[in-house]
Amino acid sequence: MSRPSDRRAEGSREIIVGVTGATGAAYAQRLLTWLVRREGLTLHVICSQTAVRIIEMELGRRAGGDRLHVEDWVLPRDQWRARVHDWAEDNFMAPIASGSHPVDGMVIVPCSMRSLASVAVGLGDNLIHRAADCCLKERRRLVLVPRESPLTATHLDQMASLARGGVTILPPDPAWYTRPESLDDFLDQVAMKICDHLGLEPDIERRWGG
Ligand SMILES: Cc1cc2nc3c(=O)[nH]c(=O)nc-3n(C[C@H](O)[C@H](O)[C@H](O)COP(=O)(O)O)c2cc1C
Repeated sequence: MSRPSDRRAEGSREIIVGVTGATGAAYAQRLLTWLVRREGLTLHVICSQTAVRIIEMELGRRAGGDRLHVEDWVLPRDQWRARVHDWAEDNFMAPIASGSHPVDGMVIVPCSMRSLASVAVGLGDNLIHRAADCCLKERRRLVLVPRESPLTATHLDQMASLARGGVTILPPDPAWYTRPESLDDFLDQVAMKICDHLGLEPDIERRWGG
């Protein structure tokens, strides 16, 4: 399948990162910390309302209201090199709500079972679900990082259906053979794997077992 990212230079990619209300906000924070520093990348970030509450709880950040901006929980603006668009989850006027806006791919990290189900059945009931639906219908890269345990038959059926439709289901499950020594090592592994599946070079020098 030919994808925009196969044809465009690495320096001019456009990626969507959806953050939903599952535990593991640090996975999104680590990935975004890499991506916002990337020259030439256009980044669209959308946090669900439950994600905002979980970011507050898990990362100790405080939102003024229902929104939490990228500079409040990732990195200050003076460290950004990417063009960052920070969208509200109910903003269907955002260009990424339309399949005719070209993007190279999207990741939902962490992905709640509610968001996974919504993408699986094509509800499009917030900007995260709609942007994912656009990636699906336009045959663009879509990566979901699901977080739930244990999994029900419904969760597994929906994951299987998405995988058959070309979606990458990427559980945040690190490899122990690399002998990770810290939580940082785990987070780097997950962020690296997401970058691989989005067709992006990870920023980090150390690869598997390197
Ligand atoms: C602290 C906390 C942790 C949660 N962890 C998970 C989780 O790991 N996986 C999951 O599927 N839902 C989890 N939930 C429930 C979801 O947040 C809930 O289903 C919500 O409707 C998801 O909406 P969203 O996908 O729009 O963010 C959690 C909720 C809270 C408050």
